[in-house]
Amino acid sequence: MSSGPDSSPSASLLEYHERSKHRLQRYAPGPGGLDWARQPDPFRTFAGAPQFRLPLAADALATRHDDVRAGVLPAPAPVELGSVATLFELAFGLSAWKAFGANRWALRCNPSSGNLHPTEAYLLCAAMPGLPGGLYHYVSREHALEQRAAVNGPSGGLLIGVSSIHWREAWKYGMRAWRYCQHDCGHAIAAVAYAAAALGWQTRMVSTVSDDALAGLLGLDRVDDFANAEDEAPDALLWIGDPQARPDVDRLRAAMRDAPWQGHANLLSASHVQWDDIDAIHRATVKPATAESPEPVAPDLPPPSRHVKDLSFADLARQRRSAVDFDGVTRIDASAFFAMLECLMPRAGTPPWNTWPAPPQMHPAFMVHRVDDLVPGLYILVRDPSAMASLKASMRPDWLWEKVGPAHLPLYLLLPHDLRGAARLICCHQDIAADSCFALGMLAHFGAAMDAPWRYRHLYWECGMLGHVLYLEAEAAGIRATGIGCFFDDEMHELLGISDRTWQSLYHFTAGGPVEDRRLSTLPPYDHLSPR
Ligand SMILES: Cc1cc2nc3c(=O)[nH]c(=O)nc-3n(C[C@H](O)[C@H](O)[C@H](O)COP(=O)(O)O)c2cc1C
Repeated sequence: MSSGPDSSPSASLLEYHERSKHRLQRYAPGPGGLDWARQPDPFRTFAGAPQFRLPLAADALATRHDDVRAGVLPAPAPVELGSVATLFELAFGLSAWKAFGANRWALRCNPSSGNLHPTEAYLLCAAMPGLPGGLYHYVSREHALEQRAAVNGPSGGLLIGVSSIHWREAWKYGMRAWRYCQHDCGHAIAAVAYAAAALGWQTRMVSTVSDDALAGLLGLDRVDDFANAEDEAPDALLWIGDPQARPDVDRLRAAMRDAPWQGHANLLSASHVQWDDIDAIHRATVKPATAESPEPVAPDLPPPSRHVKDLSFADLARQRRSAVDFDGVTRIDASAFFAMLECLMPRAGTPPWNTWPAPPQMHPAFMVHRVDDLVPGLYILVRDPSAMASLKASMRPDWLWEKVGPAHLPLYLLLPHDLRGAARLICCHQDIAADSCFALGMLAHFGAAMDAPWRYRHLYWECGMLGHVLYLEAEAAGIRATGIGCFFDDEMHELLGISDRTWQSLYHFTAGGPVEDRRLSTLPPYDHLSPR
């Protein structure tokens, strides 16, 4: 049973949240098997929209990841076709093809639950050499922009729009899929923030815009253009430009209404399964227009400690992968662990947190297994000191709360213990949670979503952003990470001693020494394209 259209948004939210939990006794409602005949096409295209092939220019980008993560950005690149191409290549482009026998599938710079990629990306820009002004949809397979509308985009910067096709995830994961779409959106936001920063650009989320306005801006409400094709839900709008300036969304929206539009969305699957629960949570969390919130004040922190590997950002973004298995022996030293955690702290002007319009709501609880000079056990990183009292009150009263690590890192040991078995169990019995150096669950201030249910989506987005930092940081530290959407929610809460809904774990992660699957071969991302 799912809540009807008459339920209050907060009641629908609560119902969805509880019913989409995986439980030890039963998983959240799913399709009960994979219907391969219905598998959605991972690539959206708009037939009839003129296509602009982008140059593969990322190899020329000299920026080092160590600088980006410390907020030391290069001089802003000129806004021209080559830099826009690099932005899309490193945020949403293909990173490789994998092959097993006759099967081939693409990987991308942004990760996605089940590699299903519900996220679509759009660009709204003024005219630049090689690219007329307009609204464009990005096709990662071709590394090309499809012009949906010929309009004069914002001056002084770029707008990036992000949307989700829920069916792509629901096909495999059923009810819980909506959560994964939100995680993926958070990863996408972070991927843009990092790639833009590597080009010397600042990114801000346009947090005032309503979903209706965003749908209008991206053409997602053009019923005829999506006739018979799967809808896209508007998610986030990102401004790349002067952080003090704001694009005139009302003017752009009016311009979109009068613009000549082109293209029709492709049908991704021959048929669909209706997931009423997903429609219900989507309705409950629609975002209205909201007032501009004051910029969050980031704590004054020293730059994060450097990793031993100093990689080019372009290489790192394209080598990011999810580990499918860990070796169960690799250890990292505490300084590398702390350096990764330092990048989870909000920092002014530093990706991806420069993008985020609110103080941190997420606090990762770590199950540390193999970190030299750190006793195995349960730890928590309290990313905002104002959350401390509430976290303490919600969790077991006998936790140690012993400060560990550098003075500026709010990391606390709660319990020294071997948690490998617990981590495996909590993460749906997945060995990757136990064979790693550490696993974690991200605790959300769930109460924040109850007054304004659209914030529920933002909690997942913030999770995805944290996850993206961990993916890049793990690569830079010489290990590898994996997002974990499959976990038993209330088992994690029980471990922490959480018995109410003030704090809820919304996303899990793990990082360790990867074991490659040698049965798979890896092919370059864009060899299938003719030279340009
Ligand atoms: C939100 C999210 C949830 C995920 N959950 C799991 C999981 O539970 N188990 C797992 O092995 N991998 C999980 N992954 C990893 C994906 O399978 C992986 O990102 C995808 O196959 C694409 O591969 P890549 O990350 O190497 O590009 C998850 C990734 C994301 C973004």
